[in-house]
Amino acid sequence: MNATGAGRAAVVCGLGTCVPPYALTNEELSKLVDTSDAWIRSRTGIGQRHIADASTATSDLAVEAGGRALKSASENGSSAVDAVIVATTTPDHPCPATAPLVAARLGLGTVPAFDLAAVCTGFLYGLAAGAGLIAAGTAERVLVIGAETFSRILDPEDRSSRAIFGDGAGAVVLRAGEPDEPGALGPFDLGSDGSGSDLITVRTGGSRDPYPAGDAADPYFRMNGKAVFRNAVERMTESSRRVLDRTGWTGGLPDLVVAHQANLRILYAVADRIGVDRADCFVNIDRVGNTAAASIPLALGDADRSGALSAGRRVLLTAFGGGLTWGACTLTWPDIRPA
Ligand code: UT7
Repeated sequence: MNATGAGRAAVVCGLGTCVPPYALTNEELSKLVDTSDAWIRSRTGIGQRHIADASTATSDLAVEAGGRALKSASENGSSAVDAVIVATTTPDHPCPATAPLVAARLGLGTVPAFDLAAVCTGFLYGLAAGAGLIAAGTAERVLVIGAETFSRILDPEDRSSRAIFGDGAGAVVLRAGEPDEPGALGPFDLGSDGSGSDLITVRTGGSRDPYPAGDAADPYFRMNGKAVFRNAVERMTESSRRVLDRTGWTGGLPDLVVAHQANLRILYAVADRIGVDRADCFVNIDRVGNTAAASIPLALGDADRSGALSAGRRVLLTAFGGGLTWGACTLTWPDIRPA
């Protein structure tokens, strides 16, 4: 390793996931709002989503997934980490950040720890930030967690968002390594477009519209579903193409796409446009719904456990979310055992 960190890669060496035990099925949801299993399945591909109980906050899920990722990493040869990043849209509090609490509860001492807000692209941005800390020589090992209790910010009357979003967390441990070894995060493509910031919002509670709120206050998550759908397909496709061009794999295409589980129709539209067979597009949205920043690591865990991911497979990660934000990254899957 050189002192400036130049040329160092960030290598995935541990993976852990967690969903709260309670799964809200479409049938149960249709007793709470005006919807149906048929509508939700045909428009989104979702069959159920996990919902945290009232005593469980985002940090609780983050600690569970983070602890499992650390265990998985220790089985693969590395133990402690020296930085923690928590990507989340639903922090425990507006202040302070959730990551220092998570680091303390995991017994990680006084390591640097910060939250990252990029909504559904948060985990990908977190991987890039973790890789940057490693490349700069600031950290040797970084715990990157995506964790959400999205159910806390949904309007109980909004059948559209309640059909989609669920709670969960997933985490990876990154270690310093070589760019050509399995698990090394390949090129990243990241982007944002704040001119679309009104398409996905939680309006009240920030400096523009602080609490205590006036009559126009809206504490809930809002999404312009149709506009987001179009942007998600376009941005994930473009970002994926750029990163695949830069990766330069023989044949040009990945063995498996692990995309943010936004909507099954979005996943298939992206796969079709980049020329990947739909069967090579990993899907777990039927079981967990859209878990925002937790989506990609949860999907990686399920893909590994199901055998869809195995050592040596070439993987494309891509995500899109509020901001607007988007991104993509490639890696060759390492020989790890998720916990
Ligand atoms: O994770 C980050 C980014 N998020 C996404 O990528 C999500 C992107 N958007 C979507 O997935 C879809 O736009 C939704 C699933 C949110 C909505 O699906 P859609 O096919 O775009 O439906 P729509 O909003 O155009 O609504 C069509 C109809 C409306 O009824 P009318 O006005 O035609 O009578 C809605 O009220 O479907 C109705 N509807 C529902 N009906 C039954 C909306 N939600 C539901 C529901 N059950 N849960």
